[in-house]
Amino acid sequence: MTSPLKNDRFLRALRRQPVDRTPVWLMRQAGRYLPEYRATRKQAGSFLAMAKNPELACEVTLQPLRRYPLDAAILFSDILTVPDAMGLGLYFVEGEGPKFRHPVRSPDDIARLAVPDMETELRYVTDAVRTIRRELDGSVPLIGFSGSPWTLACYMVEGGGSKDFAKVKSLALNDPAAMHRLLGVVTDAVIAYLSAQRAAGAQALQVFDTWGGVLGPRMYREFSLRYLRRIARELERGDGDARTPLILFGKGNAAYLGELADSGADAVGADWLVDLGDAARAVGGKVAVQGNLDPVTLYASPDAIREEAGRALDSWRDGNGGSREGHVFNLGHGMSPDMDPEHVAVLVDAVHTHSAR
Ligand code: CP3
Repeated sequence: MTSPLKNDRFLRALRRQPVDRTPVWLMRQAGRYLPEYRATRKQAGSFLAMAKNPELACEVTLQPLRRYPLDAAILFSDILTVPDAMGLGLYFVEGEGPKFRHPVRSPDDIARLAVPDMETELRYVTDAVRTIRRELDGSVPLIGFSGSPWTLACYMVEGGGSKDFAKVKSLALNDPAAMHRLLGVVTDAVIAYLSAQRAAGAQALQVFDTWGGVLGPRMYREFSLRYLRRIARELERGDGDARTPLILFGKGNAAYLGELADSGADAVGADWLVDLGDAARAVGGKVAVQGNLDPVTLYASPDAIREEAGRALDSWRDGNGGSREGHVFNLGHGMSPDMDPEHVAVLVDAVHTHSAR
């Protein structure tokens, strides 16, 4: 199980060490845009059945790696496994996204929440991590992940996706103490969940703060950043080259990159609304940066994809004192089901070719 890593570019970049090429992986690299994913999903019956079956979760994790020379694998799962294990009853309605049967609405609902037992309730996730590590056999590192406390609270209070986040923002405004109790127990669960994935073999960890950017600055700092910081400080992850790096990804986090760089995390993930050169200057060499091509670029022509990838790489280098170190190439957010698998091949090649010059 502990075969040495054959490709450690991703981990080296996260440690801001020199690399031969800029490493690249893509958020949602396993998904419906791949025909082999759709076939496995059909076999499983549903997304959740697939995610809860370690063998099938392993299979879909590996599918994009068979097609493309990606520099990291990401556990196939979902951020909503944690609230599901807390008893909220996750289900998916075709075309409508995730929903909870028992959303959190009252102080009593919040008082009933507890950190789920990782050994029983979330065993299928750590089993998937162990299976994937065995099958990867040291080819590339495996990323484990969790939602951020704020982003999980959004789904838990709204009961699913939302356009305006009216319920969760109202709770934060009307009863901030209750909101902090909710975020507190969710943060405890996130830390336990990430620790369990690390213990099972995850070699890097990413927190998805997908909805931090819907908050104004005062509320972002109070209800999102405060808990990201707690995770970065409290999550045990080792030292030196044996350290398991923690990446804090957030949509709409451009204004907070400097504060995120001081959070104790090892890297920050940026969306496409910030220039990577500016991101490099904002983090000032304290952490690595992951990002940040607009995912919609994958709908453009192969020439345009190459051009944009080159621009992003050079922008990082120029803002980072002429060095490509400390950059992990990724999209600024996840891939979509109607993207062309051929265009992904173009992007991955463009990143490796351009950054090797
Ligand atoms: O990146 C990867 O390849 C790993 C897999 C992964 C999934 N979800 C698989 C998935 C990851 C990292 C996630 C995280 C996740 N899940 C987030 C945060 C990341 C982000 O995009 O900001 C969020 C907000 C969720 C909640 C969620 N789960 C949504 C909004 C959906 C989409 C529903 C839909 O119908 O499109 C899911 C389901 C989901 N999670 C799918 C996949 C591949 C699609 C399921 C399917 O129908 O096959």
